[in-house]
Amino acid sequence: MDYPHLFAPLAIGSAVFRNRIFASPQGFYNVAKDNLPSADEVAYYERKARGGFASVCVGDCIVEDATGTHYPFLIRMEDLSTLPGLAAIASAVSRHGAVASAELSHAGMYARFVKYPDGSVYGTDSMKNANAQRDTARGGDLYGPVYIADGKYGEVLEMPEEMILRIVEKFGKAAAWAKQCGFGMVTVHGGHGWLLSQFMSPYINTRTDHWGGSFENRMRLPLAVIASIRKAVGRDFPIEYRVSGSEANPKGYDLDYGIRFAEAIDGKVDIIHISAGDHEDDRAMIVTHPSMFMEDGINVKYAAEIKKHVKTPVAAVGALTDAEQMEEIIESGKADIVQLGRQSLADPDLPLKARTGRTFYINKCLRCNTCLEHTGSIRSLRCAINPEIGFEREAKIPRPAARKKRVLVAGGGIAGMQAAITAAERGHEVILCEKSGSLGGVLRCERDVPFKRRLDEYLTRQARRVTDAGAEVRLNTEVTPELAQSLSPDVIFAALGAVPAIPPIPGVDGANVAEATEVYVAPDKCGRRVAVIGGGLVGIELSIYLDGLGKEVTIVEMQPSLVTDGAGIDFLSHEDALNTSDIKIYRGTSVLEITERGLKCRNDSGEFFAEADTVVIAVGQKPLREQSFALYDCAPEVYQIGDCVTPRRILTATQTAYTIARDI
Ligand SMILES: Cc1cc2nc3c(=O)[nH]c(=O)nc-3n(C[C@H](O)[C@H](O)[C@H](O)COP(=O)(O)O)c2cc1C
Repeated sequence: MDYPHLFAPLAIGSAVFRNRIFASPQGFYNVAKDNLPSADEVAYYERKARGGFASVCVGDCIVEDATGTHYPFLIRMEDLSTLPGLAAIASAVSRHGAVASAELSHAGMYARFVKYPDGSVYGTDSMKNANAQRDTARGGDLYGPVYIADGKYGEVLEMPEEMILRIVEKFGKAAAWAKQCGFGMVTVHGGHGWLLSQFMSPYINTRTDHWGGSFENRMRLPLAVIASIRKAVGRDFPIEYRVSGSEANPKGYDLDYGIRFAEAIDGKVDIIHISAGDHEDDRAMIVTHPSMFMEDGINVKYAAEIKKHVKTPVAAVGALTDAEQMEEIIESGKADIVQLGRQSLADPDLPLKARTGRTFYINKCLRCNTCLEHTGSIRSLRCAINPEIGFEREAKIPRPAARKKRVLVAGGGIAGMQAAITAAERGHEVILCEKSGSLGGVLRCERDVPFKRRLDEYLTRQARRVTDAGAEVRLNTEVTPELAQSLSPDVIFAALGAVPAIPPIPGVDGANVAEATEVYVAPDKCGRRVAVIGGGLVGIELSIYLDGLGKEVTIVEMQPSLVTDGAGIDFLSHEDALNTSDIKIYRGTSVLEITERGLKCRNDSGEFFAEADTVVIAVGQKPLREQSFALYDCAPEVYQIGDCVTPRRILTATQTAYTIARDI
C-alpha cells in the first residue's frame, strides 16, 4: 500500500469511511423541472463513488426555496417529489461502498433565484438588480442578517426572527429527509458567503437583537442549525460542517476568526470541513477555487491551523491533485480528511488508482475551470481532460467494437491521442501517425511553464495510454493521401492541428519576431524587453510566464478587453496573475509596424512607440483544413477533429475525439 494513511478507514458514529478521500460538495445544476434529480445526476454522483471516494457529497441542496436559492436548478429539500431522486442518488453512491452526503444550503442575501412550485424562476445570474424583477407578491424578496439598500443583487431585507426560526427548522427537516432517503451524512454549508456565514460575519451581521452584534449572538444561528439537525437525525448520524477557515478578502473574516468559530462548534459536529474564501467576492472566489497560478493544496494551511485548536476531525480542501501530498497531509496531522472538488471530475478514479499502484495514470486537474464555466454556460458539467464528465451514463456502458475496423489517426496532438485511445480501447486496430518526433501536439511547447506542469503531465499520460491501449504509433510520419490510401483504413481521424496565424503587419518577418510556440520552447532567445501582439489566452499566459522569468513584457491587444474567449472564473485568475505582475497592457490598440526597436502602435490616444527587443506573435492559429480535406477520399469514414476544424480549447478536442471514437 503506497498511501497507508490516506487509505486508513475512519468510523464516525453510524458511518464508516473506507479512506480519507472525500468528493467535496459539487452541485449538479440541472434538476428537471419537476425537481426530480435526473438519471444523469444520479450517474454523475455514482461515478465518483465507483472510483473509490469514501464519501460523495451532493452540493447545494436548498433547504428553503422561497428565500434560499442562488441557482435555479438545484435540489429542493422541501418538495416531496424530490424524495425518489434523492433516494436514487443515495443508493447509487452507497452501492459502491461510499457514504452519500447531502449538503444543506441557504444563500441568504445572495439568493438570486426564486423557483416556484409551478417551475417558474425569477432572477438571472448576472443581474445586478435581480431583486427588482422578483415577484415580491409571491415572496421573492432577498433576506440577510441586516437591511442593505444596495446589496450585490439589490435590496436586502433584515430577516425577521420568525423566518430565522423557520429556516432553522427547515435545516433539521432537510437533514431528516436526507437520512430517510439513505444518505449516511449531511454537510451543512456554512461557508463561501452563504446565509450561515453571513450571520457569523462580524462585518455583515451588525444586528442589534440576539441574532447579531456579539460573537455569541452571531454564533446563535449556526449553533441553532446544528442543534436542529442533531435533533432530527440523532446522535450517531454524522454531521459535517463546511466553513471558510478565512474569507480571505478585505471585507471578510480572517483565520483567527475562523479558529474561534471552529472552537465554538467543536464537539457539536462530527467533521469540521475547512474551505476558504467567498463566492460573492471576485478575489475570494479564486481562493475558494484556487487557480492554476497557485500552489497545490494552497488552502490546507487553514485546516492545519484550525486542527491545532479542535478535537473534531478536520477536513482540508483546495487544489489537491497529488496523492503523495494528500498522504503527507494525513500523515503529518494537518487534516484527517482530504476533499477533492475539481480533481473528482478530472479523474473520479483517483482513489482506486492510488490504492492499486496506478498513480501515474491519475488524470490530474489542470485547474482550467472548464467545469465551473459550464455550470453557468450550459447548466451542466464538463471537464477539459475527462470527456466522460457530462456523459457518465453513456460511459458506464462498455462499448466494444461491433466490427473491428482499421483506424488511421493522422496527428498525435490532444484530439488525435484521445481518438486513438478510445478507438483502440474499444478493440479497433489503430495506427497513429505523427509528423513530429513525439506525441502531444502543439501544447508540448509549454512543458517548462510552472503553471502548466499538469498539462504536460497530462500529455505524457495520454501518450502512454495510446500505446497501452494497443495503438501502433508511427512518429516522424506525415499522413499524405498516398500514405493514407496505402494503409486502406476503414476510418480516418484527421487531427492535423493548426499553424500560427501571422498578421500582415509590416516588419512581421524581421529577425526580432518570433511566434508564441517558439518562445515557449526557448524563452532565453528573447531579449530583455518583449512585446506580445495578442491578448488572448496564449498571449496572456505566455506574458505571465515571461514576466516570471524576469522579462519586461508589454501586451498589445486590438480588442478593448483581454481573454474574451476565456471562462469567467478563469478570467478572474488570469486577471489576478496579470495584476500581480509587472506586465504593461495596451487594450484597443493596433500595431502599425514592427521595427528593430519595437512596435509602432495606435489607439484612441493617438500613435505611440512601444520599445521591445523581441516581438512575439500570439494572434491565434490557422486550422490545417485543406490538408484534412485532402484525406476525405482516402477512407469510407473520415472525421476531422481538434484544431484542424477550428482551433479551440482542450475540451472541444477531447470531447469530439472521444464521442466520435465511441461511435465508430
Ligand atoms: C463545478 C463545481 C461545483 C461546485 N459546487 C459546489 C457546491 O454545490 N457546494 C459547495 O459547497 N462547493 C461547491 N464547489 C466547491 C468545491 O466543493 C471545492 O470547495 C472547490 O472546488 C475547491 O476544491 P478543488 O480545488 O479541489 O476544486 C464546487 C466547485 C466546482 C468546481
